[in-house]
Amino acid sequence: MSGLFLDRAAKPIQKLVAYDPGHDLPRLRERFGDIIVELGSNENGWGTSPMAVEAVTRAVRDSFRYPDPLGLGLRAKLAERHDCSEEEIVLGNGSHELLMQLAQVFAEPGDEVIYSRYGFAVYPIATRAVGATGVAVDPFPRDHGMPLGTNLANIPAAINERTKIIFVANPNNPTGTHFRIEDLRAMMRAVPGHIPVVVDEAYTEFADAPGLESAITLRAEFPNLVVSRTFSKAYGLAGLRVGYLVAHRDVCELINRLRESFNVNTLGLVAAEAALDDVEFLARVRAGVLTQRARIAEAASALGWFVFPSQTNFLLIDFGRKAQTFEDALFERAVIVRPMVGYGLANCLRMTVGNPEETDRLITALQEVRDAA
Ligand SMILES: Cc1ncc(COP(=O)(O)O)c(C=O)c1O
Repeated sequence: MSGLFLDRAAKPIQKLVAYDPGHDLPRLRERFGDIIVELGSNENGWGTSPMAVEAVTRAVRDSFRYPDPLGLGLRAKLAERHDCSEEEIVLGNGSHELLMQLAQVFAEPGDEVIYSRYGFAVYPIATRAVGATGVAVDPFPRDHGMPLGTNLANIPAAINERTKIIFVANPNNPTGTHFRIEDLRAMMRAVPGHIPVVVDEAYTEFADAPGLESAITLRAEFPNLVVSRTFSKAYGLAGLRVGYLVAHRDVCELINRLRESFNVNTLGLVAAEAALDDVEFLARVRAGVLTQRARIAEAASALGWFVFPSQTNFLLIDFGRKAQTFEDALFERAVIVRPMVGYGLANCLRMTVGNPEETDRLITALQEVRDAA
């Protein structure tokens, strides 16, 4: 970067560091061909719902038309599913876009945004992009049952008159940990009602822990709750970019002021609708993730590494020393995982829970890497 225009950029952008998407996958696909195992981005190892593929195939010929700017068909379906009105749903080009817009709507320079240390990387980026200051609250300690997980009890004490929005993920990326609905309710009681609390539920479909319920169930009690969801993970539509918020209609109205009118494209809209109908696919993905997650966790623990408890479609593994050598050794075997240096977790790697064949490859590679270490 030459810096030619750097000092002309808005102040918050001058200091912003772009989101790190991980490896250059198109290049790696060329290099490794069919043997590559992509476990770096928490995508769906079971592919895309056949019903979504069919819907996209039918709709693609209408691509000369603009999409429905209001996404009415999809919003109606989501409203029915979540027992709310269409005015309480906003669609996004992935939930990433919506997280950025929430910060844009509520925070500006001088304001503070609260999230958990070891929370999702987009929260600090969204905060800095609008010139606000991030306040990272301490997570649970390493020896807790939810190691490095979001400790909701620490959030109220971090609130002051500059606090404009709070982001938490349940379950959390990159730790995979979760919190219980009673703990969220207790925190919400201690948060002033004018501060929006965003609960990012990108991985909620993979949860099976007792007490882990969607924050959507608390919306009637707390109008400042905003829940974000995505079609990128369990629904297998990461490439089509569809996410949504369930929020108070006034929050939705504010987001709609800055939402690009055609932010979700025609193929994304029809695919998401079809994916919602494909209950068989979702059930198969969920059951598959739960089975393979247990296999990987068991294998990695048996190899002597610490496996963070996960309610998601990925596992965070602590190798007890710098993980770079393990990442490199996996890479040599065409198994691509996500380094965690950017999160300040240099001893850890995060790996997606893939389909049975991908899991076989991963476990074999982990065993080889361990033997060679
Ligand atoms: C916690 C969390 N939230 C949101 C997202 C964004 O997903 P998308 O923009 O594909 O909906 C991700 C993606 O990895 C995530 O891990």
